[in-house]
Amino acid sequence: MARLDGTVAVVTGAASGIGAATAERLAAEGATVATMDITDGVHYALDVRDESAVRDAFADVVARHGRLDSVVHAAGVAGGGPVHMLDADEWDRVVDVNLKGTFLVDKYSAIHMLAQGSGSIINIASIEGIEGTEGGSAYNASKGGVVMLTKSMAIDYGRRGIRVNCICPGGIDTPLLRDITDAPGLEPYRERMRDEHLLGRFGRPEEIASVAAFLASQDASFITGHALVVDGGFTAGLRVGLLEQMGML
Ligand SMILES: NC(=O)c1ccc[n+]([C@@H]2O[C@H](COP(=O)([O-])OP(=O)(O)OC[C@H]3O[C@@H](n4cnc5c(N)ncnc54)[C@H](O)[C@@H]3O)[C@@H](O)[C@H]2O)c1
Repeated sequence: MARLDGTVAVVTGAASGIGAATAERLAAEGATVATMDITDGVHYALDVRDESAVRDAFADVVARHGRLDSVVHAAGVAGGGPVHMLDADEWDRVVDVNLKGTFLVDKYSAIHMLAQGSGSIINIASIEGIEGTEGGSAYNASKGGVVMLTKSMAIDYGRRGIRVNCICPGGIDTPLLRDITDAPGLEPYRERMRDEHLLGRFGRPEEIASVAAFLASQDASFITGHALVVDGGFTAGLRVGLLEQMGML
C-alpha cells in the first residue's frame, strides 16, 4: 500500500517547477491530486489572489472527492530589488501573490480541514524567508510572512488535527530561478550562488517534492509549526576556502 493511498491533495503552482514535481510525486504515492495554477493545463486555472476563485475551487475539490487531506501551496513569484529603487506596484505584486495568496489558499484549506478534523498544510516558503539576501526586499518580506503565518496557524489548529508546516528551499532549478540566473551578464553570479550550496549544485524540484510528500504523510504525524530548510547546506555556514588550502578539495 502506498503512503498516500485514499487521500485527496491540492497542489497550487502545479503547472511548473516545484508544484509540478509535487503533484506528480503525491499522485505516485497514491493521492488523488487536484492541481491549481494561474496558467492552463491544470484542473483549476485561478489566481491565488482571487478569494472567490480560491473559495470555489476548494469547495469543488471537496464536493467532487469528499475530503481534503493535504495542500501543498507552491504558487509564487520572484521579484524585488533594493528598497529605494522598488516601485510600490512591484511590492504589491510580490507580496500579494506570495503572502496574500498563501493566506487565501490556507484559509480555504483550513475551513475544509476543520470540518473534517484532520489535514496537513504545506506552504513553500524559502530560505529567503529566514535570512536576508541582496535586493531581497519584497520577496524576502513575503516569504518571512509565509514562515510566520505557518507557525501561527500551527498554533491555532493543532488541537483540531491540522498540521501546518512550510518548506524553505534553497536554489532549485526551475523556471523561476532560471529567469534570474540566466539573465544576460549574470553568469558569474549564478556560479557564486550555486557554489554557496555546500553540495555544490542547485536542487531539483523532485528534491522538494519528496519532502512535501513526507510532510503530507503520516510519517510526519508529530511535525507541525516547522520551517523545514531544504537547501543543500546554503544556510549552514560560510565556506571561505580553507579546505582548498588544506588540500582537501
Ligand atoms: N526555485 C527556487 O529556487 C525557489 C527557492 C525557494 C522558494 N521557491 C518557491 O517555490 C515556489 C515554487 O516556485 P518554482 O521555483 O517552482 O517556480 P515556477 O515559476 O516554476 O512555478 C511557480 C508556479 O506558480 C504559478 N503562479 C504564479 N503566480 C500565480 C498566481 N497569482 N496564482 C496562481 N498561480 C501562480 C506559476 O504560473 C507557476 O506555474 C514559489 O513559491 C517560490 O517562491 C523557489
